[in-house]
Amino acid sequence: MTEPKEQVKLAREAFNNVFERFNRFRGVQTQNNLSLSEAEGLQKELAEIRVKHTGKKSDITGLKKFIGQVMPEERAEFGKLIQTLETEVSQSIAEAENTLKSFVENAKIEREKLDVTLPGNRPRVGHLHPITLLRQRIEEIFVSLGYAIEEDREIETDYYNFEALNIPEGHPARESQDTFYTTNGFALRSQTSTVQIRAMERRGVPIRIIAPGRVFRRDTPDLTHTPMFHQIEGLCVDKGITMAHLKGTVGEWLRRLFGKETKIRLRPSYFPFTEPSAEFDFSCFKCGGSGVFENERCRPCKGSGWIELGGSGMVHPNVLRACNVDPQVYSGFAFGFGLERMCSLMYSLDDIRLMFENDVRFLEQFK
Ligand code: DAH
Repeated sequence: MTEPKEQVKLAREAFNNVFERFNRFRGVQTQNNLSLSEAEGLQKELAEIRVKHTGKKSDITGLKKFIGQVMPEERAEFGKLIQTLETEVSQSIAEAENTLKSFVENAKIEREKLDVTLPGNRPRVGHLHPITLLRQRIEEIFVSLGYAIEEDREIETDYYNFEALNIPEGHPARESQDTFYTTNGFALRSQTSTVQIRAMERRGVPIRIIAPGRVFRRDTPDLTHTPMFHQIEGLCVDKGITMAHLKGTVGEWLRRLFGKETKIRLRPSYFPFTEPSAEFDFSCFKCGGSGVFENERCRPCKGSGWIELGGSGMVHPNVLRACNVDPQVYSGFAFGFGLERMCSLMYSLDDIRLMFENDVRFLEQFK
């Protein structure tokens, strides 16, 4: 049996070993290099140490039970030794606990400190892109004319991009449009006209829709080209629809956008998916069609008084047939135009690429 005194010594050593890391907290006020979470972790450890070294199952409690078995003449001294150890241990723990406690309290106050005199952080409020703003204005006009807005996929099969639009294989339009293809033969749609087919398949006729969206062409970027841009497509199919409806609708929309003096004109043209086909121009919003603005050649219309905007025509019977619509019963018109071109004309931008550079100094002007 180990000497009783020896046992007290061993218990003290065991405690000192465990407590060594906490010595630096005893009787010290300030703590550097300590984070709040670290301090909270140490508090937990310390609580465990307290239980282990002063609790019911601790060495100290064990030694106390042992007092009665010590020889009477040594008993008093042994009791004192244990007493001293006990005081030492609880004091050490209490001191470290106090330091950690006040550190944690201060750190929490510090964390929640709020200087109400500091200037606030004004959030930078964004706004919509000019193309989106123009698209929304045009959408509103068409919705008020009873049109629905259709959106559809940007990656298309050959069938929807060409075939159903009456552009058979070998047709020159397939080359002229310089389409992007994916490695497995899908096409990035080169025009929103694809949505005509999708919409008629889905909704049937009669139908009135506009389809805004991105289109892709293998163009090298320059002042007037970007390989991706936006178009809006229009389609109206019903019984008895004529070219007069086309002219009336396009005219009405442009008058609502540019003012009621706006005139439009149709010029004969060719598109595979319309017959007859026409390009549509509108009288210049700047010079009112005179070609002269402030005694100089008007810029947006280059002095012509007219602005060319898009393509249109009467939906080709083959397109209707591709959608299971009987061209003997139904007829319709369609049109399409580019939003970037329209936007750059309206704001006299020299370079269409500005729209995609995301330069805030440029975009901020369109709030
Ligand atoms: N898809 C044509 C283009 O990208 C524009 C167009 C022309 C659309 C005539 C039409 C249309 O719906 O009928 O140039």
